[in-house]
Amino acid sequence: MIQAKDLTYSYRFEGSKYKTLDGFTLSVRSGEFVVILGHNGSGKTTFARHCNALLPMQGGSLTVSGMDVGNKSCLWDIRRTCGMVFQNPDNQFVSSVVEEDLAFGLRNFGVPEAEIPLRIEKALETVGMSGFEKRSPHLLSGGQKQRIAIAGVLAVEPEILVLDEVTAMLDPQGRREVLSTVQRLHEEGKTIVMISHYIEEAVLADRVVMVHDGRVVDEGPPAEILTDMDVLRRVGMLPPVTVQAYYDLKAAGVKLDLCPLTMEALVEELCRSH
Ligand SMILES: Nc1ncnc2c1ncn2[C@@H]1O[C@H](COP(=O)(O)OP(=O)(O)OP(=O)(O)O)[C@@H](O)[C@H]1O
Ligand SMILES: [Mg+2]
Repeated sequence: MIQAKDLTYSYRFEGSKYKTLDGFTLSVRSGEFVVILGHNGSGKTTFARHCNALLPMQGGSLTVSGMDVGNKSCLWDIRRTCGMVFQNPDNQFVSSVVEEDLAFGLRNFGVPEAEIPLRIEKALETVGMSGFEKRSPHLLSGGQKQRIAIAGVLAVEPEILVLDEVTAMLDPQGRREVLSTVQRLHEEGKTIVMISHYIEEAVLADRVVMVHDGRVVDEGPPAEILTDMDVLRRVGMLPPVTVQAYYDLKAAGVKLDLCPLTMEALVEELCRSH
């Protein structure tokens, strides 16, 4: 589905080169939900931009649904196949009416006019925003804006969704709304690559990918990666609070059978061991 092999990329700025991707290798399978974690500047957004052919290829190879990202003639097919949503919900709207905004995106991709209303209706329903067709995106809450932005991408019917820190600017309620939408899309079979700063969000994933200095340094199921203090320390991330609690309890002489990833699991473990 997404196959990146030895990707390298340097930004050029004021005559100097800054290496950002340095042998980035990652495969994402069809239907998989992958969360990419890494500290600021580790290269996550640069990788995401490559998936949408937003940056020129410099080194290595990348295919999206079998299409070579370096091949300019695939550009629009790649963007149709791999939809992207970014961090700032305010930068993603071109119209002051929700349905017009979604229609604009669809026309850009050459979707026949007769199909547009149905696509919009379906996409808004999928993100739980039916009834907001005539509203202004700018007057919605952050979580609602991001769900509209996701609907705009879904309406194009992409196979893959790449979400780059889509919850970063949201309050806890907005974050919950967006995350449950993402989870539902995953359950419906969509391939999802979600970049995040919040380690707790990675608990939902099929696979967690740790990025450091422009390359993938570790990957595996959440239960393996998010409980490995060495990996987390290496990439400069703090563990989920429940994992920290597990190690703190252990240091205090309370040994739980399982290292829990959620509050519910922690409570269950505590009840079980006493
Ligand atoms: N347009 C640009 N011009 C020059 N340097 C850039 C540009 N965009 C990003 N960089 C640099 O490339 C490096 C990687 O940036 P990138 O945005 O890929 O990181 P990131 O992992 O997404 O970080 P964050 O978690 O802060 O979003 C950073 O050091 C950044 O300063
Ligand atoms: Mg980024």
